[in-house]
Amino acid sequence: MHPTLDLMLDHRSIRRYTADPVPDTDIRRAVEAGQAASTSSAVQAYCLIRINDPGERQRLAELTGPQEKVAECGAFFVVCGDTRRHRIAAADGGLAYDAHLEAFLLAVIDATLFAQNLVLAFEAMGYGICYIGGLRSRLAEVDRRLELPDGVYPVYGLCVGVPDEAPGPRPRLSADAIYSEDRYPNDDQVRSHLAEYDARYRLYLQERGVAPEKIRGWSEIMAGKFSTPQRDDLAAYYVGKGAELV
Ligand SMILES: Cc1cc2nc3c(=O)[nH]c(=O)nc-3n(C[C@H](O)[C@H](O)[C@H](O)COP(=O)(O)O)c2cc1C
Repeated sequence: MHPTLDLMLDHRSIRRYTADPVPDTDIRRAVEAGQAASTSSAVQAYCLIRINDPGERQRLAELTGPQEKVAECGAFFVVCGDTRRHRIAAADGGLAYDAHLEAFLLAVIDATLFAQNLVLAFEAMGYGICYIGGLRSRLAEVDRRLELPDGVYPVYGLCVGVPDEAPGPRPRLSADAIYSEDRYPNDDQVRSHLAEYDARYRLYLQERGVAPEKIRGWSEIMAGKFSTPQRDDLAAYYVGKGAELV
């Protein structure tokens, strides 16, 4: 088809890595590719922090889960929305920094566009990656360890390394389920897409060797996931770092 599309379609999260390091030159190339992503009005509201110290990596592995891959992968990064540069520019220019929810959203959006381009660059170089949302599980403790200044909002971690496993692809909703023209589909159409996907998802879990009593459709998994609040200390944490959520 096209090498870039092939690369994108070949994505799968990698959770086991060899002990091989990721050379600084490859990290630099990936960072520059990440920076080439579109950025809202060129605000570039993101930063990437590599965590090198083995003891710190082990502690983060515990705080994120535990997720051993955080300590074991070739390189581990923290992806942050970053409004600090804007705040410094405002202060140095004698202006107030008073940007409200839009500034926080811009930072999360920009950081995520950067991160996904960064990820594609690493994957193009043959590395495996895994985003680590578990970074937000005990964010205040992560923050204390990293001594992040106000205006810098960690959003997730990122493992990168040489893959030591070759998992199959995790099936997605059909393209028809997430694409429509002119109007959002009605609820019956949504339900029919969910039913189709649930059947495919069950088959995927079965083929992965999941115990029969644990096999569930995607809808049931999502319903369970969102039935109770998750990480409900996040608003307080981000506000404490200077974000305005209104
Ligand atoms: C923002 C984000 C956070 C994630 N956090 C974790 C995580 O903490 N641990 C983990 O093992 N996988 C994590 N993942 C990986 C997802 O589980 C994975 O992308 C999803 O199940 C689809 O599988 P695939 O990437 O192999 O296609 C995360 C993915 C994203 C995008």
